[in-house]
Amino acid sequence: MKAIVQEKYGSFDDLELRQVEEPVVGDDEVLVRVRAASMHPDVWHLVSGRPYILRLMGAGFSRPKNPTPGTDMAGVVDSVGAKVTRFRQGDQVFGETVDAYTWSNGGAYCEYVSVPQGLLALKPHNITFEQAASVPTSGFIVLQNLREGCQLKGQKVLVNGAGGGVGSLALQIAKAYGAQVTAVDSTGKLDMLRSLGADQVIDYTRQDFTQGDIRYDLIFDVPGNHPFSACKRVLKPDGRYVLIGHEHFGGSGKRVFGIVPYFLSLMLKARFVKQLQGPRGIPLPSRPETMAVLRTFLEAGKITPIIDSCYPLDEIHEAFRHMIGDELRGKVIITM
Ligand SMILES: NC(=O)c1ccc[n+]([C@@H]2O[C@H](COP(=O)([O-])OP(=O)(O)OC[C@H]3O[C@@H](n4cnc5c(N)ncnc54)[C@H](OP(=O)(O)O)[C@@H]3O)[C@@H](O)[C@H]2O)c1
Repeated sequence: MKAIVQEKYGSFDDLELRQVEEPVVGDDEVLVRVRAASMHPDVWHLVSGRPYILRLMGAGFSRPKNPTPGTDMAGVVDSVGAKVTRFRQGDQVFGETVDAYTWSNGGAYCEYVSVPQGLLALKPHNITFEQAASVPTSGFIVLQNLREGCQLKGQKVLVNGAGGGVGSLALQIAKAYGAQVTAVDSTGKLDMLRSLGADQVIDYTRQDFTQGDIRYDLIFDVPGNHPFSACKRVLKPDGRYVLIGHEHFGGSGKRVFGIVPYFLSLMLKARFVKQLQGPRGIPLPSRPETMAVLRTFLEAGKITPIIDSCYPLDEIHEAFRHMIGDELRGKVIITM
């Protein structure tokens, strides 16, 4: 089969399209004929191997353990392992291709990928393969951090970086749970944010949301361009702050540890600052639970995945260049 192969960490220009063996399907696995796979900043991290610390967090120390990048996809079931009960040949599915909380390549940029059945869900009929492929990895990180669910009803939520892959889902999921959402991003994305349901929009090139008068119940911060002390100013005393973080494709300059030290400092502070603590008594959702929630929202039209552009597998370098260098309106997708 055709697959993108990454021999070493470094430039995306070193990725090669090659013929490789089809994967062998494990007992609990589903062999999926991939139709579309998602491109996002985490894929850049794994191809560049930066920050270096991620190589100790599952990716592989001197070279990637899994030579094929890509962490989420949508496609058609080709065959199933002996213990698979939830899917059969011909089903249209979507999901992540890496299990557990490892930071590693998932092998989605190829024609066939073998995936544990627990990571997959049936693709809703009302969306395309490209749209379905854009959701699982971003959706997982959003639902891990928006665990309050229906408790968000009527709450004031601010999503900083709401025009990106993670932020656009956070905005729509918070709206689906009944929150009033203020969405922050650049001038050219504001119409898109309104069309996704934002109640208010803030153009970060003209206005600093930390200087506003509104007090929020939740700040969901993707770029993390303001220190927590500034965000705290516009948080209610019993509000909550969530940082996702963004390395701007190496632009942060933190090659070794990235933003990990900042995360650790917030975790330490969280022992004393309630606004940094997760929602009380609500456990982290499992991947099957996450996929079920995402599927329900997609099917009900509460999440509309926005696709910026699609590139065939043999244009992987152009796809990376576009994601890193241009202003996107939605996700970049690789098609097979
Ligand atoms: N996407 C995924 O599937 C996924 C999954 C797991 C983890 N992550 C991690 O989550 C982070 C975000 O990923 P993403 O896919 O959402 O990135 P993204 O698509 O690049 O989105 C980031 C958004 O933040 C905006 N932004 C930049 N500077 C800003 C500022 N000063 N104020 C407000 N908004 C600003 C960007 O707008 P401009 O274009 O105008 O700069 C963009 O719309 C990354 O660190 C990634 O590694 C992503």
